[in-house]
Amino acid sequence: MTTAALTPTPADKFTFGLWTVGWQARDPFGDPTRPALDPVETVHRLAELGAHGVTFHDDDLIPFGAAEPDRTKHIERFRTALVETGLEVPMATTNLFTHPVFKDGAFTANDRAVRRYALRKVMRNLDLAAELGAHTYVFWGGREGAESDAAKDIRAALDRYREGLDTLAQYVTDRGYDLRFAIEPKPNEPRGDILLPTIGHALAFINTLEHADLVGVNPEVGHEQMAGLNFVHGIAQALWHGKLFHLDLNGQRGPKFDQDLVFGHGDLLNAFFLVDLLENGPDGAPAYDGPRHFDYKPARTEDIAGVWHSAAANMRTYLLLKERAAAFRADPEVREALAGARTAELAAPTLADGETYAGLLADRSAFEDFDPDAAAERGCGYVRLNQLAVEHLMGAR
Ligand code: GCO
Ligand code: MN
Ligand code: MN
Repeated sequence: MTTAALTPTPADKFTFGLWTVGWQARDPFGDPTRPALDPVETVHRLAELGAHGVTFHDDDLIPFGAAEPDRTKHIERFRTALVETGLEVPMATTNLFTHPVFKDGAFTANDRAVRRYALRKVMRNLDLAAELGAHTYVFWGGREGAESDAAKDIRAALDRYREGLDTLAQYVTDRGYDLRFAIEPKPNEPRGDILLPTIGHALAFINTLEHADLVGVNPEVGHEQMAGLNFVHGIAQALWHGKLFHLDLNGQRGPKFDQDLVFGHGDLLNAFFLVDLLENGPDGAPAYDGPRHFDYKPARTEDIAGVWHSAAANMRTYLLLKERAAAFRADPEVREALAGARTAELAAPTLADGETYAGLLADRSAFEDFDPDAAAERGCGYVRLNQLAVEHLMGAR
């Protein structure tokens, strides 16, 4: 693979949150190991590395509680950096988790005044998101949950969650903002149990919303894997529903605390199949054309140089996987193995064109004359396919 192809450019649509590279590495057991990063510097460094955009929580850009003139100053400095670098802001979100006022949640806090405050905090940042040209607004409800089953009436909490999103979707519609919402599921952390813990829960919830068409999901690799789930399957289902509005790429090694590793530094084979899914859609075009957003944390062991190395590593890994997935798809032996595994046959409807269950009942070959034992004897050949993928991933083919 040529160096040029591994050098990220804005056309690759790589984006990073200010809070990712800007994480000072404070954890529940230890103090920060790195100084704060100025968002303006982050914008310049990301642009130099070939990123397309930057995303932010309101409080990443404007310190919580800043007075109006300060707020304006922070926004203006940021806007200037965007203009200087050409970096875009495709997504923005709200910090509804750091301040202690949100300790029992934002949209689903038992305290009604907290819920009203949270909605106002979001509305203010929606205005800014629209002003900066964002098209996606993420809702990660890290504090929407509980540690005790007695603490929260979950059905009432879901009513309030829905009320919050419906109200905000109405606001966006009335203002004429070109913004769609993306719910980010996570099973736990910081709450013991978080509402809308998986992609599936979120999709079911979205169906109940008044403005369901405006709302999709922002799944994160590590979050589904924390729940023991297959991220590729989750993303495929989100695509199938037409609800993959955004996504958070990172790495996670099994069901444990949210590791937010560099993309590919967790389950590498799953990352390979994810990139294959995103880049190689059924008609050859990418199945997803939105930002490739990295939501990772540079390890606490790293200094500032390590922060920028890790940011570059996310993009390089993605591009390497993209190249490996293309080689996998182009390999004649893979094609033959796919044919042998009859993967294309799944696209053929089970009933013939115009056939109903009556036709199925009348078809003796489907049941009376069908030999299940003979059909069961046939191997599927999936392990051979998987090995071919592993060999492409390892650069052995
Ligand atoms: C996490 C989440 C967050 C969100 C972010 C944007 O587990 O910490 O992934 O990083 O993505 O708050 O809403
Ligand atoms: Mn995470
Ligand atoms: Mn995330």
